[in-house]
Amino acid sequence: MAYANGYYCNLKETYLFTEIANRVNTYVAAHPEKKIIRLGIGDVTLPLAPVVIEVLHKAVDEMGVKETFRGYGPEQGYDFLRQAIANYYAQRGVDLSLDEIFVSDGAKSDCGNIGDIFADTNVMLIQDPVYPVYLDTNIMRGRKVIYMNATPENNFAPMPDKKVKADIIYLCSPSNPTGSVYTKEQLAKWVEYALENNAIILYDSAYEAFIDGEEIPHSIFSVPDAKKCAIEFNSFSKIAGFTGTRCGYVVVPKNLERQTENGKVMNLNSMWLRRQTTKFNGVPYIVQRAAEASLSKDGLQQCWENIAYYKENARIMMKGFDECGIKYYGGVHSPYLWIQCPGGMKSWDFFDELLAKANVVGTPGSGFGVNGEGFLRLTSFGSRENTIEAMERIVAVFKK
Ligand code: MLT
Repeated sequence: MAYANGYYCNLKETYLFTEIANRVNTYVAAHPEKKIIRLGIGDVTLPLAPVVIEVLHKAVDEMGVKETFRGYGPEQGYDFLRQAIANYYAQRGVDLSLDEIFVSDGAKSDCGNIGDIFADTNVMLIQDPVYPVYLDTNIMRGRKVIYMNATPENNFAPMPDKKVKADIIYLCSPSNPTGSVYTKEQLAKWVEYALENNAIILYDSAYEAFIDGEEIPHSIFSVPDAKKCAIEFNSFSKIAGFTGTRCGYVVVPKNLERQTENGKVMNLNSMWLRRQTTKFNGVPYIVQRAAEASLSKDGLQQCWENIAYYKENARIMMKGFDECGIKYYGGVHSPYLWIQCPGGMKSWDFFDELLAKANVVGTPGSGFGVNGEGFLRLTSFGSRENTIEAMERIVAVFKK
């Protein structure tokens, strides 16, 4: 008799973005004449940077020549890409060795897969609202999850509570969905908490390229001692527009250790290597070459131009909501605006109203957790024309 994983019964029936897509498809089927503008899922719209495309073509050509053809690559990524990532971190004063970097197909899979190297008895501390992947992947394993409230009162950046005992903590800065950020001092407090509790911080920095100015850290490893308690995830999706190209990486410090429940000391870097070499065959050579190109001098310049474009979209959106007198958060260090639903509306009601009256798709805040109720997330990853049009429609409907 094969038994199904009963923990799946504890999940919501559909993944948040699938549910939104289903609702939008139903609306579109009923109103085929409407032009829908999708600002829901955080998917990029600008094409890959020219340098990336050039290198992709070259790498494809290499695959067609006997002398330069590549088969299986190293599961943890080619050294050329790991070196480019190490250099990227070095520009921000963070020193990484190549064997601390594990290239992957993106941060979403890594944030879930990392659970393989931790016992299921760990207590997980997760923000509410939160990127649903952290929560759902742990529910799938039957782990106990406790929540910390991210609210306007704490700028959506909850701090450790010494009375709460957690083993593994997910942090995301800039945050998906609220766009909030942690300062270096705040992260230092989290590192202190993790060290006191022998805990591990799983730090998602997928949106670091959107950080404005020098104040906010791009990596938790800017904090002294973070290498004793943190694992970091990042992705080329948001910095280089790789949502469809797929490439990301995990940084697992070389000397990071924790005990098994039986007291055996395990090295988490070696465990992750063991996990990846067993379950993963690496990212395609051509994609790794493209990722490397995105971190070159020209590549970064071109990627930052794209990010500047999305940041300008965010400014256009903020201006529109200011005109409507609708309160929002985020949008500065992040492609996301976290909007307080007007008139005390509930998230899904505002979602429906926005869809029906402005034909704009957002993401209901309640899909990110209980504290997301009453909020809706919009992304600045749309095209400029669509962003302007969406905001004109929103202002026309909601301006008092
Ligand atoms: C989002 O909309 O939250 C993200 O695009 C999802 C992701 O990066 O997987």
